[in-house]
Amino acid sequence: MNPIAVSVLHSFRENFHTEPAVYFSPGRINLIGEHVDYNDGFVLPAAIDKGIYYAVAQNNSSDIHFYAMDFNERLTITAATIKKIDNWKNYVLSVINEFILLGQEVKGFDCVFAGDIPRGSGMSSSAAVEGGLAFALNEMLQAGLGRVELALLCQRAEHNFPQVNCGIMDQFANMMGRQDEVILLDCKTMQHQYFPLRLQGYKIVLINSKVPHALVTGEYNVRRQRCEEGLAILKNHLNIHSFRDINSVGDLAQFKLLMDEKVFNCCRYVVEEITRAKKAAELLQQDNIAEFGKLMYATHEGLSKLYEVSCTELDFLVEWAKKDSNVIGSRLMGGGFGGCTINIVKKEGIDQFITASSEAYKQQFNIDPEAYVVSTADGTRQLTVTP
Ligand code: GLA
Repeated sequence: MNPIAVSVLHSFRENFHTEPAVYFSPGRINLIGEHVDYNDGFVLPAAIDKGIYYAVAQNNSSDIHFYAMDFNERLTITAATIKKIDNWKNYVLSVINEFILLGQEVKGFDCVFAGDIPRGSGMSSSAAVEGGLAFALNEMLQAGLGRVELALLCQRAEHNFPQVNCGIMDQFANMMGRQDEVILLDCKTMQHQYFPLRLQGYKIVLINSKVPHALVTGEYNVRRQRCEEGLAILKNHLNIHSFRDINSVGDLAQFKLLMDEKVFNCCRYVVEEITRAKKAAELLQQDNIAEFGKLMYATHEGLSKLYEVSCTELDFLVEWAKKDSNVIGSRLMGGGFGGCTINIVKKEGIDQFITASSEAYKQQFNIDPEAYVVSTADGTRQLTVTP
């Protein structure tokens, strides 16, 4: 078993003296389709082998005990007294709250969790925290929710106590991921299709800028509001339901004067990114990695200049990647404002890319970045515990 799973299990036994069920709940990458999940767009995520490990067991009382190993923090609460608090507590409590809102009677249980997703890295540790607990509670309460229902429950949980108005991508990838495959998800209909992640001689490398994005959830919600404002104006003039019904940026131009400039730029980015993500999925299925990589660069440009969710550090990393002939595409990944870039890099060139870009980054910003070569994984699941 993974060493974190083992230490979570041991800590549980020490703290609670009973035998728990152990779960793994993955983080995610997203190849393309950024900030379009809440705009009825298409995304291309995959679950990864970094995530959150949970040990959970009922305790025959009404007390719910959490021990968050990574923070060395504890929390005791009952279902009747659940309320919004702060930080990690909001994520777990909001998940319990969603089960209560569904009419489930949540009795006492004990829970230890820890993980290896660097915080604020854009690999969605929040969806992993939510997904692991939701999966465990679903089994414990015999609530009978399917994986997509659990993903939707986790999304509602993130909207509620943490107040991040996220889309469905992270929670969907967390529940529905499959090893060696990416998911093409239509965020409007939830229709999805898996296809193998065939990168031939290339691998996915994440470079963590170590600029934490955790403090800018307000900015995330602002982007969502800008899109809603723009779409409302467009709906007044066009017979459309969502951004995907707009065929080209040319069709948008006539509305420029009716919108605040930032609102217009967000709309433009979303229309372009929805088209790009569809095209990118086709290219990937046709094994056309080179063209796929170009679209990643175009996404970054849009996220940086139009959607304004990049930062100097991420722009620097993408510019650096562009200069390395072993890199075929690079862009910021996830919500932005910090976190990781996702890069498609020729296998033989990975070491050199990581060393050279890390040195340049350190020199420029005096921050040591971290690099991870990504392995995809299955969605949230129970692990077999060896005694
Ligand atoms: C965060 C959100 C997702 C998605 C991405 C940007 O990860 O949780 O729903 O909007 O940002 O693509």
